[in-house]
Amino acid sequence: MRREAIARVIAAYDDPVIRAYSWGRFLILRQRFLDEIGQYLPAEGTILDIGCGFGLFSLYYAQLLPAAAFRGLDLNARRVALATEAARRLGLTNAVYAVGDACHYRADGEHAAAYMLDIVHHIPPETVPPLLAELHKAIRPGGRLIVKDVDTQPAYKRWFTLALDLLMSPGSVIHYWPAGELQTLLQRVGFRVYRHLMVDVLPYPHVLFVCHKD
Ligand SMILES: C[S@@+](CC[C@H](N)C(=O)[O-])C[C@H]1O[C@@H](n2cnc3c(N)ncnc32)[C@H](O)[C@@H]1O
Repeated sequence: MRREAIARVIAAYDDPVIRAYSWGRFLILRQRFLDEIGQYLPAEGTILDIGCGFGLFSLYYAQLLPAAAFRGLDLNARRVALATEAARRLGLTNAVYAVGDACHYRADGEHAAAYMLDIVHHIPPETVPPLLAELHKAIRPGGRLIVKDVDTQPAYKRWFTLALDLLMSPGSVIHYWPAGELQTLLQRVGFRVYRHLMVDVLPYPHVLFVCHKD
């Protein structure tokens, strides 16, 4: 079922370039990691996917968690349109997408959870603290924020990730946060933070924070 869910998401895009990109993303965040991240998502309630891109992961989790309502937000209108069309093709009514700038996100209700998968390093560093503070406001007590990003250490893994980021997202902001600094920031805005170790055979300095709002 989970493997099929990935295949269905990839098949929901017509463009072979996007399919290839999606395949690559599902290789980086492969089944084991999707399970590791997914275990922290609630089965019900609204879940924000900040910087949703083409919607890959919300479309995947929306299939597995039919009682949850995924809301994706991304700056790139083309990506949002493709995510919306893919949700329609997959018959998923629990995944909706909107164009928006995470840097200007304002808490809009009480959400069960939110996640950001490889987004924090793509937004200007000075906008990260206010975004995290807004997300803390937006998540209901007992809810969670999941942040998957990349650490600055070890250096060879950072260089590897930088090369890929420059290739895949030319011209975009790239600012990697040392994991300790990002954790401190998450704690400062009020989250109780637990670091889940993501151990990869590939040279990615993954860092995954599970942030609880008490
Ligand atoms: C590396 S991609 C990750 C996309 C998706 N989370 C995933 O894991 O496949 C980074 C995404 O962040 C989006 N992005 C960059 N700056 C943003 C901003 N200020 N607000 C919202 N989205 C932004 C880009 O358009 C892009 O889709």
